Amino acid sequence: MAKVLRTENLKKYYGEAESQVRALDGVDFSVEQGEFVAVVGTSGSGKSTLLHMLGGLDRPTSGKVWVDDKDIFGLKDDALCIFRRRKIGFVFQNYNLVPVLNVYENIVLPIELDGNTVDQFYVQEVIQALGLESKCDSLPSQLSGGQQRVAIARALATKPAILLADEPTGNLDSATSQDVLGLMKMTGERFSQTIVMITHDEELAQLSDRIIRIEDGKIKGTKNRNHDIPEERMKDRKTGSRRKGGEADA
Ligand SMILES: Nc1ncnc2c1ncn2[C@@H]1O[C@H](COP(=O)(O)OP(=O)(O)OP(=O)(O)O)[C@@H](O)[C@H]1O
Ligand SMILES: [Mg+2]
Repeated sequence: MAKVLRTENLKKYYGEAESQVRALDGVDFSVEQGEFVAVVGTSGSGKSTLLHMLGGLDRPTSGKVWVDDKDIFGLKDDALCIFRRRKIGFVFQNYNLVPVLNVYENIVLPIELDGNTVDQFYVQEVIQALGLESKCDSLPSQLSGGQQRVAIARALATKPAILLADEPTGNLDSATSQDVLGLMKMTGERFSQTIVMITHDEELAQLSDRIIRIEDGKIKGTKNRNHDIPEERMKDRKTGSRRKGGEADA
């Protein structure tokens, strides 16, 4: 099956000599197209560092990351930035929405920043899937608890190769967390979206296809949740029906 993401002996060290921190210390793993992977581990184990490397937000000390068969750290900074905008959807704990833009404007902002026209049909489908139809004209601050739905819609809107989420439910109560996770899983399946999500919450991690445990910057265990991937999801993946065709690489 197609590997959408792959790392090879990925290392990230901060500082020098005695004060050196090995935030990532030789990580090898890969993610298949359409898979939903949860990354768990104690605080300081290297989860966010890993996510930053996977999304090209920061460069590793050594090692490689391939996204869609592209060696992303082989790109110069400008090209890496464009690559990130086109291929990676980020969802962070604190939403990072633009407060003066309404919900719809927030969702399509990354598409417009990239100078692309909005695929209205697809974006409306995402908005509906996340239950945001009646909220499009509201400001983010007017949504009680629904801001992470907007952040997820924004991340999906560009049809990224991978959606990376760092503690997306970290600021939410447990009922809303379940709700947001359920929506992420549902949209992941519906749009054949590959998702890598960090969580502290072991219960939420159980909703994923595979759980990766990281300790002291190393992968210490992997647990498969679903061995059987429904046939229709497989077909979707093969045809890549929801993806933009002929997208220019940076
Ligand atoms: N910019 C930095 N400079 C120096 N050390 C850093 C930096 N970023 C992270 N670290 C260190 O690297 C290690 C891994 O940090 P990271 O943020 O990846 O952990 P985490 O698993 O995401 O933790 P948490 O669950 O608390 O978010 C920690 O020891 C942290 O202090
Ligand atoms: Mg973290």
